[in-house]
Amino acid sequence: MQIDILTLFPEMFEGPFASSIIFRAAERGIVTIRIHNLRDWTHDRHRTVDDMPFGGGPGMILKPAPIFEALGDIGTPGAEVVLFTPNGELLRQSTVQDLATRDHIVLICGHYEGVDERVADHLATRAVSIGDYVLSGGELPAMVLTDAVVRLLPGALGCADSTREEAFSEGLLEYPQYTRPAVYRGIAVPEIVRSGNHQELARWKRRSALQRTLDRRPDLLTAETHEEIRRLGLASPDPNDATTSGKTEN
Ligand code: 6GU
Repeated sequence: MQIDILTLFPEMFEGPFASSIIFRAAERGIVTIRIHNLRDWTHDRHRTVDDMPFGGGPGMILKPAPIFEALGDIGTPGAEVVLFTPNGELLRQSTVQDLATRDHIVLICGHYEGVDERVADHLATRAVSIGDYVLSGGELPAMVLTDAVVRLLPGALGCADSTREEAFSEGLLEYPQYTRPAVYRGIAVPEIVRSGNHQELARWKRRSALQRTLDRRPDLLTAETHEEIRRLGLASPDPNDATTSGKTEN
């Protein structure tokens, strides 16, 4: 796979891509990542990439020309061209899985108040947001997407990790996990986890995953998992209970 990233801040990618899974995947030839400075496709002395919005409004807008010209040089027929913008579709694992099948992905990092809409309408194949909060640019989202995609490429991870993928792909949050010691600062690992009863443990994992998803991400539940929750008699979280409302975390 080849990933080309168009950005005004190429140096932001140096640290994150020099470590961990992405670097090892690049070393093994699983992925080639190229970072491009958008200013390399300007023609004026000041290397201008932005301009004032038509009709007024705050901030500056990225001009279409440098982005279109860059795509003319680095784009390929059939490449997936992703524009990062808070106005995009939310990035989900299913999108990541789809992108992981492509040969060539171009990532365009928006900045300032926005990007001339002609980029979204006539150049990008999709516009993507990574969540309902505002970032100062598309660089961190590009790193997030690159990490999520590259770790799915065959050979990028150990197999132990890749099989664990199935849990999230199934649309539930993960059950809690523990390691030694069995008691730490007086806090014990649940008895069932240490019991060695594999059948009971499998049921506990399933119940825990369902309960946690019900508590924290009910939007992920389907008709099938709702029915399973009803059958198991799991309770919806009490909004006034701090132990299930998430108020004790973060
Ligand atoms: Cl893709 N861009 C910006 N600027 N903010 C965001 C985002 C993207 N996704 C979430 N917040």
